[in-house]
Amino acid sequence: MALYLGVMSGTSLDGIDIALTDLLGQPQLLAHYFSPLPEALRSELLALCQSGPDELARQAVAGNAWAECVATGIKQLLAEQNLTAADICAIGSHGQTVRHEPARGFSVQIGAPALLAELTGISVVADFRSRDIAAGGQGAPLVPAFHQQLFADDIEVRALVNIGGFSNLTLLTPGAAVQGFDCGPGNALMDAWIRLHRGQDYDADGTWAASGHVNHTLLTQLLEDPFFAQRGPKSTGREYFHPAWLQAQLKRFGEKLEAVDIQATLCALTAHCISQALLAQQPQCQRLLVCGGGAHNRQLMALLQQALPALHVDTTQALGADPDWLEAMAFAWLAKCCVDGTPGNRPAVTGARGLRVLGAIYPA
Ligand SMILES: Nc1ncnc2c1ncn2[C@@H]1O[C@H](COP(=O)(O)OP(=O)(O)O)[C@@H](O)[C@H]1O
Ligand SMILES: [Mg+2]
Repeated sequence: MALYLGVMSGTSLDGIDIALTDLLGQPQLLAHYFSPLPEALRSELLALCQSGPDELARQAVAGNAWAECVATGIKQLLAEQNLTAADICAIGSHGQTVRHEPARGFSVQIGAPALLAELTGISVVADFRSRDIAAGGQGAPLVPAFHQQLFADDIEVRALVNIGGFSNLTLLTPGAAVQGFDCGPGNALMDAWIRLHRGQDYDADGTWAASGHVNHTLLTQLLEDPFFAQRGPKSTGREYFHPAWLQAQLKRFGEKLEAVDIQATLCALTAHCISQALLAQQPQCQRLLVCGGGAHNRQLMALLQQALPALHVDTTQALGADPDWLEAMAFAWLAKCCVDGTPGNRPAVTGARGLRVLGAIYPA
């Protein structure tokens, strides 16, 4: 066995996913652990996504707190599995993105990798995005190479979409290089809207969205945002699709809508930005596999199937891969790539000048 831990804490800020992965042959998920983020840390991480006072010290303190949460989760997971630090080759720790601005030459993930190595006694690979950006790429998405490894088929034209805070597509065409790009908002705007109006973290199963009516005029207006028409490589995040973007759109729309109908329309926006990008860039696609938390949103899954009537729309579970843990597994795999000296980026995806080994190693 070659045991690696993948640690992912996405833009949804729902918590930290830890995936114990065997990478000896085809990647296999052996066990997993989820640590919800303590509310105070969650709101500080969210605050750090925008300019504010004393950011340098605050991001360092928050990064340490994040690493402590991860270390506690890892110790718990190892104890449950009767494993020790010595059994693990390395941790691939994505960190928490607080800024993603490839056009300005940076993407910032915090997570104190040195402290994580110190607390766990395991080597840590971190800072996966900066080398790709240094080579002229978007630094994102990084999961397509891993999706290719797991899901590429000799015959079927497949696509994967990971629906976290934002959504990213991977296109797997037999005989062609893997493609991929960010499509736009995933759950982030829906989460923010239900938090504002109902005080809930997310719209469980998409029930609230399903009880409203999609306003097609507003949907068309939202889809006119120039980001959606751009072809990849492209990436996005909280810097662009934030609640103020939505408020500005609603102001422009003018007409007053019920909150529930706006939720329904945001759910449709997520479905349509995925389906439009997929049809534009790979019209031959036969099957769409969904992973990430959005796979649990039944209304979103139904809207995706409606928008793509010629395709089979499933979660990755249909091919035996738990949709909740794939992204964390991808960072276990990217850590191994780094340790082995194998490139983790794909220039056709990120737009980098070439293949690069991604990440920095903090030895145990
Ligand atoms: N049962 C569910 N119904 C609807 N949405 C869900 C459900 N479970 C999770 N989600 C959505 O998935 C998000 C978390 O997805 P995740 O893949 O962890 O994203 P990230 O990588 O950004 O952390 C939540 O914020 C929520 O919007
Ligand atoms: Mg998450």
